[in-house]
Parts: sequence; C-alpha cells; structure tokens
Amino acid sequence: MKKEVSKSNVTPWEVSGKINYERLVKDFGVSSMPTNLIAKTKNLHPLLRRGFYFSHRDFDSWVKDAESKKKVSILTGRGPSEKMHVGHLVPFLIAKSLQDKYKCNVYIPFSEDEKYFVKKDLGFEEAKKFTEENISHIIALGFDMKKTFFSRDFNDPELYSNSAKIAKLITYSEVKAIFGLKPENNIGWSFYPAVQAYHILLPQLKKGPHKTLVPVGIDQDPFIRLTRDIATHSSLKLNKPSAIYSKFLSGLRGGSKMSSSSGLETDLIFLTDTQNEVKRKINKYAFSGGKDTLEAHRKHGGNPEIDVSFQYLKAIFETDDKKLSKIEKNYRSGKLTTGELKAYTIEKINFFLKEHQKKLTKARKDAKKIFS
Ligand code: TYM
Repeated sequence: MKKEVSKSNVTPWEVSGKINYERLVKDFGVSSMPTNLIAKTKNLHPLLRRGFYFSHRDFDSWVKDAESKKKVSILTGRGPSEKMHVGHLVPFLIAKSLQDKYKCNVYIPFSEDEKYFVKKDLGFEEAKKFTEENISHIIALGFDMKKTFFSRDFNDPELYSNSAKIAKLITYSEVKAIFGLKPENNIGWSFYPAVQAYHILLPQLKKGPHKTLVPVGIDQDPFIRLTRDIATHSSLKLNKPSAIYSKFLSGLRGGSKMSSSSGLETDLIFLTDTQNEVKRKINKYAFSGGKDTLEAHRKHGGNPEIDVSFQYLKAIFETDDKKLSKIEKNYRSGKLTTGELKAYTIEKINFFLKEHQKKLTKARKDAKKIFS
C-alpha cells in the first residue's frame, strides 16, 4: 500500500497519521461517492447523506438492483475484541439502515482467527471470548433477526472448505503485495485474507449469485480488492462484491482513528460507558475547535471541521439536519461556546447509549441462543 507524503498509513491492521481522504481515493483506486445518486435516493442514513461514506466500488449498480427489487444483500464483519467503541458503530448503523430500506439479508461474520493471528499475545481461548459480547451490541442496534445471520470463524463448519477453494486462486506474492506482510508474520496471517474473501462471498455462496454490498472503513479495501479479483473465476462464477467506504471516526483528542489498540481512555468512548464516564471524557479530552478565550471565541467563532464534539454529532448522534446546521452556524459565528457544544454532545451521546444499554440485556440472551 502506498504511503502518503504526510506519512499516514492505512492498512487493515494499522491506521496512523493525518489522513487525506481525497488522496486515498486515488491511491486505492476507488471512486468518490456519487453525490447525484445520494441526492436521488430517499431516506438514506446521515452517514451517507453527509459524506462520511466518501468512496465506493460499484455502489451505483447495487442501488440499481435494490431499487428495482432484485435480490441484494449486505455483508460486514467484526474482528472481536474486548469492548466495542462508538467508531465501530459506523458500518453496522449503515447496514441496519439499508436493511430497513431495502428489506434485504445482512450477514455478519466474526473473525476471531484474524485477531488471534495478528495480536501476538492473544491466547486461543481469549480470542474466542469476546465474540458473544460483541454480537450482543450489534443485535441491540435493532437488526431484523429473521434476515440477519451471524457466524464465527472458529465454529463455522463451511469456512475451511470454502476458504481453501479461494486460497488456491491467490498467490503468496499477491497477498504479500496487497497486505504488506512481513517475513516474521505467522503463516495464519497470510492465509487469513482467503477467509475474509470467503466472508465477503458468503451471501452468494448461500443464496446464489447476486449483488452484495460491503459497508466498511477504508482500511478494509485490500480485502475487497482481493475478493473482486477472484469472485468471477470459473470455479466460483459469482458477482464482484460492491463496497462503500467510510472515513474514520476520530479518537477524542482528534487522532486519525478511534481505535481499541490505542488502549487509551483519552481516545475512546465505549458502548458500555456510563453517563458520567461520557461526561468526564468529553469535557476533559474532546479536542475543541473553539478559541482560547471566550472573548476571542465570540469575536472570531469556532471551527467545526476540527471540533471532535461537532464531528461526533455530525457522523452519528444528531440525526436532525436542521438542528445540526443551526449548531454549525452558531458555533462558526461564536454564538455557541465550546462548553455549550460539549454539553449538547454529552446529552446526545448519553441518550444514544442509554437506549442502547437498555436493549443489551435481551440482546445478550439472543446472542447466547445463536451459538448454543
Ligand atoms: P474491525 O473489527 O477492526 O472493525 C470493524 C469495522 O469497523 C470499522 N471501524 C471504524 N469505522 C469508522 N471509525 C472508526 N474509528 C472505526 N474503527 C473500526 C472498520 O473499518 C470495520 O469496517 N477484518 C475486519 C472484520 C471483518 C470484516 C469481514 C469486515 C471480518 N470479516 C468481512 C468486512 C467484511 C476487522 O478487523 O474490523
């Protein structure tokens, strides 16, 4: 993967530096999100309406089939780890809203093996431990459980035979070039891309060839590219999957990506955080686009583009476009202070988390049933 001049690095296993998303469109060879398609398509989630999903591969042809009521599906996955944070909501909120709109199946595989191979100190039993809890959070988002299918790699009986068929179509040098594997990486790591390609083709392997959409962060594009290269091979005869790519929800202090591997509470809001934890974290750590003094802020206004609280509202927590644009206008003009913006953001995040946590008790029972 090419590095940017500003030394940002975006791979499935590491995201760092200041990311220039326009440049990533060129470097990754993806297409910018077609704004005319978004404007034409009704009731899309704010993450799509407001440009957080900034690029795609063949999204237009997926929408065309979905709009003309042909069979379509959605697939997106998760590498389970101890706790899910609000950044992890991004692909699942979109998957759910597209399921609501087009009534299609959603497939959600859990790559326990990926985490096991990639994290040097993660034990086998430990790698399996978090799947059920992570699934509960995803169920709690309100997916239609009759049309939503979960699988976990360490007990998916169809995984090995299908991944083997896919692995035979990929050379070691392709995987090395696409994923930048190093000589010291274990061989599980180099096989894993065949497993994620299997995930991505799962809806078609189950239901026959049709259009599948994969909503993911742009870090996951190497897997999409690899899968698109092999999907139409004569031994598979499937459609190339479509994908939409999101930017990253930043950490609290404004870094490139909210990420559990930073392990820093100064950067993370977890889905299990209490109301007080959210209040303390936003007040103490959320990077502000406001001016240093109240006087300067009133005079010159704040910068919502770099203000983390505003960005959280824009991406997920303020779904009302009119309210959001009033907040933006007032913050820019200096009428709204950083303190007031933070107080509103805390209220909105806490409202979301309170509802989410209420649904968790039932979701945990459902998650238990799925694998028992
Ligand atoms: P994982 O578990 O690291 O992340 C799950 C999904 O969340 C996205 N993501 C974010 N999006 C926006 N802002 C953030 N701060 C943020 N942090 C994480 C990731 O881009 C990803 O879409 N290999 C995958 C799991 C996987 C998968 C799949 C994904 C397994 N099979 C098939 C798609 C399709 C992973 O480790 O994601």
